Amino acid sequence: MRFDIITVLPGLLDGPFAHSILQRAQQKGLAEIHVHNLRDYADNKHKSVDDYPYGGGSGMVMTIQPFANCIEALNKERQYDEVIFMSPDGERLDQGIANSLVGGQNILILCGHYKGIDQRIRDMYVTREISIGDYVLSGGELAAAVLVDAVVRLIPGVLTDETSALSDSFQDGLLDAPVYTRPADWQGHRVPEVLLSGNQQVIDEWRHEQALERTQQRRPDLLNE
Ligand code: ADE
Repeated sequence: MRFDIITVLPGLLDGPFAHSILQRAQQKGLAEIHVHNLRDYADNKHKSVDDYPYGGGSGMVMTIQPFANCIEALNKERQYDEVIFMSPDGERLDQGIANSLVGGQNILILCGHYKGIDQRIRDMYVTREISIGDYVLSGGELAAAVLVDAVVRLIPGVLTDETSALSDSFQDGLLDAPVYTRPADWQGHRVPEVLLSGNQQVIDEWRHEQALERTQQRRPDLLNE
């Protein structure tokens, strides 16, 4: 899968994609992530990408022209399955949305800043708007990194043990059961005996019960979906 991300702060995205699973996915050729600096597409000599809002009010609004130039240049190269604008007023990201994006080939992500982007960019180019939660970030970059991470780890072959994505929290609509590793006894705090029993069927049942109980306690809303 290929991700193109348009941002005024490309440096903000250097870190998240350069480590661990996302880095490995790129090295294996399973994911390509390209970050584009919006300012490179600004026609004016100051390379400005924002302007005062019509109708007044506080904050600046990102202008159409740099986005239009950048998106149209990218559209000439390939077709995008989705053009996603990261925004607190989008649909709320969940595992189902991540799953729905993983089949596609090319995804273009727009990151906003300041007060927002000119509505006409959203009307003309954006096919989907996604929020990562009900709070306001300084820009869409961190949200874009969250989205790309959630999708890339689902690409077949990205995780070394393919079943581990399937057993993630949320994939079966439940939170994960608690996990333990050695030592079996830490200063008197013992690992649940059942995990040491060697009886896989009993262990699986225990994990399922724990997952149900945890979901009931912490996220009962998931059980009603
Ligand atoms: N940009 C600013 N806040 C955001 C949020 N909560 N989700 C996605 N993009 C954002």
